[in-house]
Amino acid sequence: MSGLRVAVLASGTGTNLQAILDTVHGRDGIEVVAVGSDKPTARALARARDAGVETAVFRAADYPDRAARDEAMADWLAERGVELVVLAGYMQLLTPGFIRRFPNRIINVHPALLPSFPGLDAIGQALAHGVRVTGVTVHFVDEGVDTGPIILQRAVPVPDSRDRAELEEAIHAVEHELLPEAVRLIAAGRVTIDPANPRLVLIAPAAK
Ligand code: GAR
Repeated sequence: MSGLRVAVLASGTGTNLQAILDTVHGRDGIEVVAVGSDKPTARALARARDAGVETAVFRAADYPDRAARDEAMADWLAERGVELVVLAGYMQLLTPGFIRRFPNRIINVHPALLPSFPGLDAIGQALAHGVRVTGVTVHFVDEGVDTGPIILQRAVPVPDSRDRAELEEAIHAVEHELLPEAVRLIAAGRVTIDPANPRLVLIAPAAK
């Protein structure tokens, strides 16, 4: 594959979106062509506009149900020729109908070493459990909560202070490397799911 039309969905601050805009957007044919949110006030939307990327808001309250909201969002992305959907702090569960529109074409960044600490507040869960190592996972999105095949993971030690802000900062720094790296690998056509084992993601070595 050469080049990739990417959409990012984000609900919050959008530092992961910013990392993608700063490090992969406009390079090697990778273009962020759309940024969507469920929250009209998400700072991610302002970051997208500043980068000249088209934005849209899909609020649950504006649709009869989640399926209708996700269908409108999938239509909006499909009209823009999106080939990869990146969830970067998108805090809504996608409906099966949406996921079927982009088979193995949706990835998510999660602030823990899955399958540990799925769902909300993974950093708080890790601190409460008392682990000494947590980390970051980038994975394909399936119909479960943070259950899809794992593309990249990196460990992050819990600081001796067990200070939440310090751990958050360390995790975010790793996210800002791992998520753009996953987009680069997918754009380069190096990421496939093992036909013999659909849990297993294969990453081909870089061409010499
Ligand atoms: C990130 O830490 C991301 O891993 C997390 O939300 C944060 C968004 O930060 N996502 C989840 O917890 C999803 N389960 P950002 O808005 O600054 O990119």
